[in-house]
Amino acid sequence: IYAITPTYSRPVQKAELTRLANTFRQVSRLHWILVEDAAARSELVTRFVAGAGLPCTHLHVPTPRRYKRPGLPRATEQRNAGLAWLRQRHQHLPPPQPGVLFFADDDNTYSLELFQEMRTTRKVSVWPVGLVGGRRYERPVVENGKVVGWYTGWRADRPFAIDMAGFAVSLQVILSHPKAVFKRRGSQPGMQESDFLKQITTVEELEPKANNCTKVLVWHTRTEKVNLANEPKYHLDTVNIEV
Ligand code: UGA
Ligand code: MN
Repeated sequence: IYAITPTYSRPVQKAELTRLANTFRQVSRLHWILVEDAAARSELVTRFVAGAGLPCTHLHVPTPRRYKRPGLPRATEQRNAGLAWLRQRHQHLPPPQPGVLFFADDDNTYSLELFQEMRTTRKVSVWPVGLVGGRRYERPVVENGKVVGWYTGWRADRPFAIDMAGFAVSLQVILSHPKAVFKRRGSQPGMQESDFLKQITTVEELEPKANNCTKVLVWHTRTEKVNLANEPKYHLDTVNIEV
């Protein structure tokens, strides 16, 4: 399993990455592709990766300033950098190349069972996501083992009404669709997932996981912005501490 995680510098970054590593460390044969939204690798993430205790590739690419605005899709360039690295790594290896790719945002909560489910992905698999879309959960609606619609409270007209945390793609599909990427141009807010999936699969082809999409195994948790109201303007402590 390859997990691509975009991440950016903010007060909670190390805490988020710590939570994630504590989960991923328990998943066998997982390779973490951590992509910093930055012009260079930061010392904090570099140190973190060195001590993470799991196979890890540390990349970086900055989001152009013009795209750092509320309402615009996040982490487009970072996920594409992860995809490019993956394609490069596997392009000269002979098939079959078993593998599953999953986009793991740094603030979500992942059960270990989720990884057992996605491991058997043949092309593209899907499952419910908790705490998203203004509801307790969103899920693909399944009939006779096939996805026939979407239970969602937000933009049900999306061709694939699913969050980034709700699907996995086999490595084979990633390699056989070398041009499939996340797009800035023409992509509306919240349409990144749908726009990407459109390039590689059809709704009919989707493989429902998590007991025909009736179990929530991943949560779109979002971390509260920390209160730093009492943080001094200038360094006051006698030591420099990484948080
Ligand atoms: C929702 C979806 O769950 C995301 O997959 C999607 O990328 C995002 O919307 C979007 O609008 O594009 P949300 O919780 O609103 O997620 O987004 P964040 O968790 O703030 O960001 C998603 C990922 O991108 C995180 O891993 C975060 O660390 C990273 N990110 C965010 C950056 O790398 N740079 C940024 O400037 C912001
Ligand atoms: Mn998030």
